[in-house]
Amino acid sequence: MENIEKQETYPMPRIGEKAPAFTAKTTQGDIDFPKDYEGKWVILFSHPADFTPVCTSEFMTFATMEQEFKELNCELVGLSVDGLFSHIAWLRTIKEKIEYKGMKNVEVNFPLIEDISMNVANKYGMISPNESATQAVRAVFFIDPKGIIRTIVYYPLSLGRNFDELKRILQGLKAADEFGVAMPADWRPGDDVIVPTAGSCGTAQSRMDDKDIDCKDWFFCTKKIAKEEVMEKILKK
Ligand code: BEZ
Repeated sequence: MENIEKQETYPMPRIGEKAPAFTAKTTQGDIDFPKDYEGKWVILFSHPADFTPVCTSEFMTFATMEQEFKELNCELVGLSVDGLFSHIAWLRTIKEKIEYKGMKNVEVNFPLIEDISMNVANKYGMISPNESATQAVRAVFFIDPKGIIRTIVYYPLSLGRNFDELKRILQGLKAADEFGVAMPADWRPGDDVIVPTAGSCGTAQSRMDDKDIDCKDWFFCTKKIAKEEVMEKILKK
């Protein structure tokens, strides 16, 4: 028998499941994930490689928006299969040399995980072998304060993420939880929300009669929630 070291294989985690646990070294020290983030939202995201242009534009954008995510009680954690020295050198280069779309001297203060063994990337299904067997794709996991995966977004190597959309996802998840509603296509804070479908004829009728609820039909009812009310509920929670 050949003595080939086998990579552990894991089923891909899914929405509604507990975020797989791991410990790792990062540019901000060791982390115990998701335990260290209990009580907070966290976005765990992977990128293919340090010192690559699309990833650089993404890191500069995310780092510039970090405060907006913190205000939503959300921490950012990056990952690639590069080592710590590469991460540190890349982030230093970004800060000292890269000017892009009005962003300069950008300091990345959130942790960037080293994952040379691909242990974490494999646990989270971040490697798509037909895209690249040696790099993580652009995966994004939204994990809630109880450590449950709530949304997963994947982008290929060739397309940088839309960070406004990532923020909208976080706002939508939090608002849906807070108000017990669902969000329609392209929802943003201040837009009408979807009232869950009524369970019986009686409640359906009373819903149709409620002047604060606008029913297009029995299965499609919306109501207004003011932007200020949404923001008050979702900021710092
Ligand atoms: C980039 O971030 O520029 C990149 C990384 C891997 C493959 C293609 C592009």
